Amino acid sequence: MPLVSSGAHTGRVSTDPQFATRQIRSGYASATFQNPAVVPIYQSAAYEFESFAAARDIFALRRRGNLYSRTGNPTQTVLEERVAALDGGVAALATASGQSAVLVALLALAKNGEHLVAARQLYGGTVDLLTDTFADFGIEVTLVDQDDLEAWRAAVRPTTRAFFAESIGNPTASVLRVQEVADIAHEAGVPLVVDNTVATPVLQRPKEFGADIVVYSATKFLGGHGSSLGGVIVDLGTFDFGAEPARWPQFTQPFARVGDVVLWERFGQAGSAYLVYAKVKLVHDLGPSLSPFNSFQLIQGIETLDLRVARQSASALTVAAFLDSRPEVSVVRHPGLPGDPGHEAASRYLPRGAGSVFSFDLAGGEEVVENFVDSLGLFSLVANIGDARSLVIHPATTTHSHLDDDQLRLAGFSRATIRLSIGLEDVDDLVADLARSLDLVGALDPADDAARDHDPAREPALVTD
Ligand SMILES: Cc1ncc(COP(=O)(O)O)c(C=O)c1O
Repeated sequence: MPLVSSGAHTGRVSTDPQFATRQIRSGYASATFQNPAVVPIYQSAAYEFESFAAARDIFALRRRGNLYSRTGNPTQTVLEERVAALDGGVAALATASGQSAVLVALLALAKNGEHLVAARQLYGGTVDLLTDTFADFGIEVTLVDQDDLEAWRAAVRPTTRAFFAESIGNPTASVLRVQEVADIAHEAGVPLVVDNTVATPVLQRPKEFGADIVVYSATKFLGGHGSSLGGVIVDLGTFDFGAEPARWPQFTQPFARVGDVVLWERFGQAGSAYLVYAKVKLVHDLGPSLSPFNSFQLIQGIETLDLRVARQSASALTVAAFLDSRPEVSVVRHPGLPGDPGHEAASRYLPRGAGSVFSFDLAGGEEVVENFVDSLGLFSLVANIGDARSLVIHPATTTHSHLDDDQLRLAGFSRATIRLSIGLEDVDDLVADLARSLDLVGALDPADDAARDHDPAREPALVTD
């Protein structure tokens, strides 16, 4: 019996329910609880064992059961089963934040002395984690331009344990060629871990393109209302850790802290030995636990996920096209626009929409950014994405303020870059708000077509590793 939640306890959901059904029903059958129609908040730090034998068996991983809320609570279990069902995974593990989901997902694969290859087009907090804190842990990370397939291949070492990238990059909306990168990871004998936060399983199921593990900041679109932090790791059940047992001793050697059980033998691929290890060792030891209340809020959000993401994605394309038509804007980075470098990849990897987080540069440069942002009436100045509200941020002075000009350019943007996260307001109101502020900066510093044609931000980002 799997220790982490799997799609096995989906109650009244019968064979092959569609996405919209899964996002409302998976993981919960009211009859098996006290029969509330809505998933309850189980606010308890610990759980009473029905017997001495039950306690012993749950601790020994012989039996599934609630133990202590640092490693999971029943509301969280429903969330885990639901997200696993949306992604076609064998199991999921929820954590306190997206950051801890990335941390735990990768620490379960690589330890001191080992190595990761990651895209350089990543959320800034992930770059900090990989290049700074992981260095403290003795885990080396090579960052590559995700579009340079040779760079992925060249970065592989005997100690490499995973590839990591975002399906849609935050903040530049870069589009990962998932299948191509997954193929190179598999040639190297390691799994591809995809951060699917911006795409969500509505716009992309990375499993369909060869990815092995998915992570989410559930704080963003899964929750969808900007109220609760959370993270989820989904094991897609595709990577065979048993194929090269010497490379993965954490799964294939006796696990001393649980009676020398070999996780790969007990749980295997289908029972997610990978997430059992992540939960029993890493979440247990490090403590990034998701609260029952946040689990509840994230479940509520997921019930409307496809409706929200479809509308936000469509509105974002409308807004991007509008910005692209304005002389005060020098470049719009949205893969839904025909001229965008990610457009072709988006037609394969994001056929249902390219998401609602993207960026653009003001032709007037850094000098007009403050006036532009402060004059917006509807967009909220917030360091977040994926909210029902539309949000704006200036990465160079906030989320990416520790990067110098070269690092900003390598990350694919400049000091004139503004990031938007399009919410659920009426798109005409959003366009009108942006138009007013563009008129204002246009009057301050009229841009012309020459500025637009010669903007260095239109050049492709440099390649490093
Ligand atoms: C793509 C991506 N991954 C991970 C994270 C980290 O998630 P959290 O803020 O929930 O810790 C973020 C946060 O912005 C993100 O945008």
